[in-house]
Amino acid sequence: MDSILDKIKTVEDVEGSLRKKFSLTLNPFPKSGIANISDTDAVVGELVPTSNEITEKIIRYMQDALSNSGQGSENKYLSLIIRGDYGMGKTQTLMFIKYLFGQLSNEKFKPYVVYIDNPGVKLSELIGNILSQIGIENFRRYLWDIFRQYLEQEDKENDNRLRKDIFLESINNLKTTNTPTLFPIDEAESTTDIPLTWDQVSISYKYLLDRMLNGLHSPEQKVAIQIFKNYLVKCFAERYEISSIAEYFYDIVTDNTSVTKTWDQLITGNIKNIDKREVYLLKAIVDITKQYLGATDFIILADEFEEIAIGRLKDADLDNYLRNLRSLIDKEKNWCAVFAMNLDAHRKIEKMSPPLASRMGDRIIDLKPLDKQSCIAMIQHYLAIARVEANTPLSLYPFEESAIVSLLNTKEQKLQGSPRFIIQSCYLLLQRAAEELNKGQTIDQAFVMKYLSEKLK
Ligand SMILES: Nc1ncnc2c1ncn2[C@@H]1O[C@H](COP(=O)(O)OP(=O)(O)O)[C@@H](O)[C@H]1O
Ligand SMILES: [Mg+2]
Repeated sequence: MDSILDKIKTVEDVEGSLRKKFSLTLNPFPKSGIANISDTDAVVGELVPTSNEITEKIIRYMQDALSNSGQGSENKYLSLIIRGDYGMGKTQTLMFIKYLFGQLSNEKFKPYVVYIDNPGVKLSELIGNILSQIGIENFRRYLWDIFRQYLEQEDKENDNRLRKDIFLESINNLKTTNTPTLFPIDEAESTTDIPLTWDQVSISYKYLLDRMLNGLHSPEQKVAIQIFKNYLVKCFAERYEISSIAEYFYDIVTDNTSVTKTWDQLITGNIKNIDKREVYLLKAIVDITKQYLGATDFIILADEFEEIAIGRLKDADLDNYLRNLRSLIDKEKNWCAVFAMNLDAHRKIEKMSPPLASRMGDRIIDLKPLDKQSCIAMIQHYLAIARVEANTPLSLYPFEESAIVSLLNTKEQKLQGSPRFIIQSCYLLLQRAAEELNKGQTIDQAFVMKYLSEKLK
């Protein structure tokens, strides 16, 4: 019994052994053989694509996606599909693209990139997912600014008077004569007697409301809140065309008690009547990133697209999703997208909606099984992450080339050259090597066969 436990416990010191025996700080390979989406830039940047052809295509795509940078072009949509079977490196490739966009950020380019690990079952879920990354505060600020601009415009139905003036007048009419100005200064705070200006009081919904309610009795306060609501809802309804969206936006701006629920509904895509209207949300999102976050470009990286194309959806729901996505791309072109999926999913989309397939696949990168050269490169880059001494030249040590050759010789055709299988195997082999090998020994073909003979020829 104790000897079993002792054996299990040797794992405690794997890292110590890795360091002593192979000058590695840790086992850099992910145990699961799945790209880790929370890896740091330092790691992601090291894991370059496995072929020059792929790198070249990524460079071209990024150049063309960014080519209108900063010129305010509204027509820059460009789409790329990363195509490959399960475990071929789609997620890792998306992460690398995200990393590159991030590295590019300078005065000319400031791309805002969202990575979505699951496209959801409705398009509104995908959009909601993006919204959640933008954050409620930015969204609120954006909606409030829209309202302020709306008030600065002339009202055609009212002798072209400024909406702001009409709005303030209707609030003022609720006041009794002994409340002299609409925005009196608080006596406690006051240092001068100059009433507050519109710019000062309109910094947020809350603040403006406080000022307007100041000096009103409770029944008039209710009326004032209602007037305010009518203005806000009308503003949003004019801009976003449907009243239900306007009501959601009202909840968000006013931060009332139902706002968490509203925000939840928006970011989970569970909001009513949004079907085919996702474009308004996307427009808002793109605007926010440009106005408040200084972005020049907006890029969506959508992973696991086969989940919807050949996954859980019934054909009718899939049809609906694809239709909405197509109209989204047609109506809003101020963004770029990269979709990752397998070949079957792409075929299915081509079959169900050729126009959408062509919009999604302006460019295609096919991830193919690794050959010896690309496999060696991939393993070398992973090992580089863990070298005790930084800047050592790329090397396979402690793996021998013969070990790599056997890893590429699988019994199952499906696993042949699969990055996932190779990475998983490398993790296992390195763990075993830390326990068993002595300093100076290496992972060779015999060592590989000792642990993986079931899978390898
Ligand atoms: N270019 C690369 N460099 C290093 N490792 C890679 C590379 N491409 C894929 N991998 C590794 O292969 C494994 C499978 O990749 P992943 O992106 O998860 O596949 P997919 O998303 O296609 O299922 C992951 O462990 C990942 O880190
Ligand atoms: Mg993946």
